[in-house]
Amino acid sequence: FRILCVVGARPNFMKMAPIMAALAELRPHVDVQLVHTGQHYDVAMNHQYFAALGIPDPDINLEVGSGSHAIQTADVMKKFEPALDQVQPTAVLVVGDVNSTIACALVAAKKGVPVIHVEAGLRSFDRAMPEEINRVLTDQISDLLFTTEESGEANLLREGIAKERIHFVGNVMIDTLVRNLPRAISAEQIVADHGKPGFASGAEGYAVLTLHRPSNVDDFAVLRTLLETANRIGERTPIIFPLHPRTRGMIEKAGLNHLVENSNILLLPPMGYLEMLGLMKGARVVLTDSGGIQEETTALGTPCITLRNNTERPITVDEGTNTIAGQDPDKIMAIYNEVMAGGGKAGRVPYFWDGKAAVRIAEKLQAWMQAGCKTS
Ligand code: UD1
Repeated sequence: FRILCVVGARPNFMKMAPIMAALAELRPHVDVQLVHTGQHYDVAMNHQYFAALGIPDPDINLEVGSGSHAIQTADVMKKFEPALDQVQPTAVLVVGDVNSTIACALVAAKKGVPVIHVEAGLRSFDRAMPEEINRVLTDQISDLLFTTEESGEANLLREGIAKERIHFVGNVMIDTLVRNLPRAISAEQIVADHGKPGFASGAEGYAVLTLHRPSNVDDFAVLRTLLETANRIGERTPIIFPLHPRTRGMIEKAGLNHLVENSNILLLPPMGYLEMLGLMKGARVVLTDSGGIQEETTALGTPCITLRNNTERPITVDEGTNTIAGQDPDKIMAIYNEVMAGGGKAGRVPYFWDGKAAVRIAEKLQAWMQAGCKTS
């Protein structure tokens, strides 16, 4: 048997690391190969993750780079097809919800190669989000669907996916978190390394801000409001703000540099995995529009304020430390004040977010392959 695994963008890397490790245990019965589509191509978006997480170098690089959704998705498809023909895998394994996920799943499905989707079934019910389209479509053409939380199975069943295809295994991203927590790099170290020793060393601690969703950063009015709100928070709790390349570009284009270049905010380049882990662990509060960070803060017990109107990861709100705030400054400030007053959600770590999700996936895959890769 041969499994061809696909990564493309930063949030894929920490999900793939434990899967590759668990599948390596199935050798020699199972051969595993890795394709990197190159959706994210900057060193900062790639190398720090591959190196820190011990992901093997990709066997194949497609080097697609950026583009409109159509161009990026089409480029991945065009370049993935010959790679698939060359590798001849038993199945293609994709993770998450980025353009590379749907593109490779679609190529494989049309060629009759079974698709395995890890992190299936998450739904924001917001079709304005490109990732929601990617999630719904990838799940429809997947043969095996591994879910991270129980809402995933309910969503998939509602969409007509056969129950036998769905397996609740837990969260591979938390596998990576559990494994790497002892190596997390502290905020103190990071600010010193970036020439700001002593930043945020006061009693109020620090907040972490991440922004990259088009709905938050491509609209200048929304971006301005969010940065102004960050400044209000920064007056009390200094903010560490690692900048996604898209966001850096938009801040410059919108002429909003003055809102981030001040003594209450420390701008950083995109952080590596161990740096992000340390930053999130030590933070009083994290403000974010990321999906993965909602889960990581829940696993760490750090309060999270989500700067979106919905989440595809409802368990982080129902059981974890996450609160949905949207973009309304008053709402964001109210939740922030509650957290700082000690009234934030205590939260608990969801079931199966225990560091063993990838091992469960490998076991299910082995059984599926031994049974002849049959799906109903
Ligand atoms: C992608 C994913 C998103 C994920 C995010 C994490 C989709 C639809 N979106 O969004 O779900 O949360 O990654 O980071 O797949 N750029 C660089 N260097 C890079 C990569 C991108 O400078 O290595 C810049 C380019 O200007 C590019 C922009 O960032 O146009 C957006 O990159 P892209 O991969 O298209 O989408 P993300 O916004 O990163």
